Amino acid sequence: MGYEWDPSLETGHETIDSQHKQLIVAVNNIFDACCRGDGDVEIINTLDFLNAYIVKHFSDEENIMLEYSYPDYEYHRRYHEMFKVDVRNMTKKLKQEGANELLVEEVLHSITDWLLNHIKGDDFRLATYILAVAVNKK
Ligand SMILES: [Fe+2]
Repeated sequence: MGYEWDPSLETGHETIDSQHKQLIVAVNNIFDACCRGDGDVEIINTLDFLNAYIVKHFSDEENIMLEYSYPDYEYHRRYHEMFKVDVRNMTKKLKQEGANELLVEEVLHSITDWLLNHIKGDDFRLATYILAVAVNKK
């Protein structure tokens, strides 16, 4: 079981797409680890990855939005902030309770929900806007 990169996730913006692909790798790593019964070990790596990802990827995306004067910047940024809170809460739980099956499920659910809702929805709209602006500039 796992995720494959598919065209519905493709925004057409190179930086955004390559960072989203890293997220797919991370979600597949934790899926595979769960299949081996190692989910509680892998979750430490997953949360390490996510903590770096929410800083780098969101700031890259937000800079792109500013660069292109994206009209839905504030709305989009609010979703990034919500995901950051989720990741930080899960990290806090890991520190307080240690790795457990419930937390592994929460992390998996959180990333897949993000892929299906934010990346396929909000990021796709952002990319469509950027591509339209880029075409008009030519
Ligand atoms: Fe985004």
